[in-house]
Amino acid sequence: MLGIDREGDFDPHELEAPDLAVWVGRGRPSDAALEVLLARPRTHRGRANLLSPDHMDWSGIALVDEACRRDSVRRREPSQGTAIPPLGSQGREQDAAALIRQRRSAVAFDGQTSMPREVWIEMLDALLPRPGVPPFAAWPQAPRVNLILFVHRVEQVTPGLYALVRQTESLDRLRQSLRAEFQWAPVDGAPGHLGLYRLVEGDARNAARALSCHQDIAGDSCFAVAMLADFDAALTEGPLGYRALFWECGLIGQALYLEAEASGLRGTGIGCFFDDTVHELLGIQDTRWQSLYHFTVGGPVEDARLRTESAYAHLAGRLA
Ligand SMILES: Cc1cc2nc3c(=O)[nH]c(=O)nc-3n(C[C@H](O)[C@H](O)[C@H](O)COP(=O)(O)O)c2cc1C
Repeated sequence: MLGIDREGDFDPHELEAPDLAVWVGRGRPSDAALEVLLARPRTHRGRANLLSPDHMDWSGIALVDEACRRDSVRRREPSQGTAIPPLGSQGREQDAAALIRQRRSAVAFDGQTSMPREVWIEMLDALLPRPGVPPFAAWPQAPRVNLILFVHRVEQVTPGLYALVRQTESLDRLRQSLRAEFQWAPVDGAPGHLGLYRLVEGDARNAARALSCHQDIAGDSCFAVAMLADFDAALTEGPLGYRALFWECGLIGQALYLEAEASGLRGTGIGCFFDDTVHELLGIQDTRWQSLYHFTVGGPVEDARLRTESAYAHLAGRLA
C-alpha cells in the first residue's frame, strides 16, 4: 500500500520496516471497504534519501528486525492495572487534540525555566498505568520500564538523581542492581503509590549532557530521563520481548511529550546516548537492566527557523 517495497527507490542499507497500520475512522472498516482500499491502483514516486552517507553499515538493524518478529512469542494477558488513586488535573482542562497537534520536539532549552514540584509529580504520576486511562490502558502488559531522573530545575526538589519505579514488584531487584550508596529516600510531596525515590543529591547537568552524546538538551532542561528496562526478564518471553521494551519506552516518551505541552513546557526524545556509561554511573554490572531511551523536558528556546501552519494550509485556496 505504501510502496515501501519498491526496489531501487530505497537504499538497501536503510529499508523501511512498518510496525503497524492504523485505521482512523468511526467504527471498524468493513472487509469490503478494506479490499477496495488495498486493490486501488497506486503510483509512487521519488527516492528515499540516505540518513547519512557516512554510515552505510546498518546490517545489525535488519538482523534484529528479522530476529524479533511477532510469530516467535506467546501473547500475554492484558494488564489489569493496579488500584492507585485517580490522576489529579491541577485544575487543567485542556483539549487533547490541540495538545497533540501543537506538540513538537524542543531543539534547545533555555537553561533557566524551572517547573513547580506539583506539576513534576503529576507528570510522573501520569506515566503509571491506570485501568481505562489512555495511553497506558492500551498497553497489554505490566510495566517493564522504570525511570532514572536527572533533576535540574524543579522547585522545592533538590537537584540530583531520582528513580521512578513504575514496575512496583521490581523495587528490590532494582535496588540490588544499583549502587549500594544510593539513598532511596522518599520525596516530599510525592504520594506513596508513585514509587518516586531520591538516589543521590547533586548537580546532574553535566552527567545528563555527557551521557546523552553531549547534547545540551539533556542539561538545559528541567529534568532528563533515562528509561531503564527489565531486560533479561523481558527476553525470557521470546524475541518479541525486545521490541516490546522499545514500544513501552516510546509510549512513555509520547506521554511525556503531551504532558510537557500541557504544562507549558516542551519535551524531546533522546535516542543518542551512551548506554554503557549510563550503566556505569548507576552501578549496573550485568544485563538485568538496560537503558533503552532517554528524554528531556524543560522550557524551550523557540527556533525562529521553524514556522507552524495549520494542516493543509497550502491547499486553502483549492478546497471547496
Ligand atoms: C526515538 C526518538 C529519538 C530522538 N532522539 C533525539 C536526539 O538524540 N537528539 C535530538 O535533538 N532530538 C531527538 N529526537 C527528536 C527528533 O529529532 C524529532 O522528534 C524529529 O525531528 C521530529 O520533530 P517533532 O518531534 O517536532 O515532530 C528524537 C525523537 C525520537 C522520537
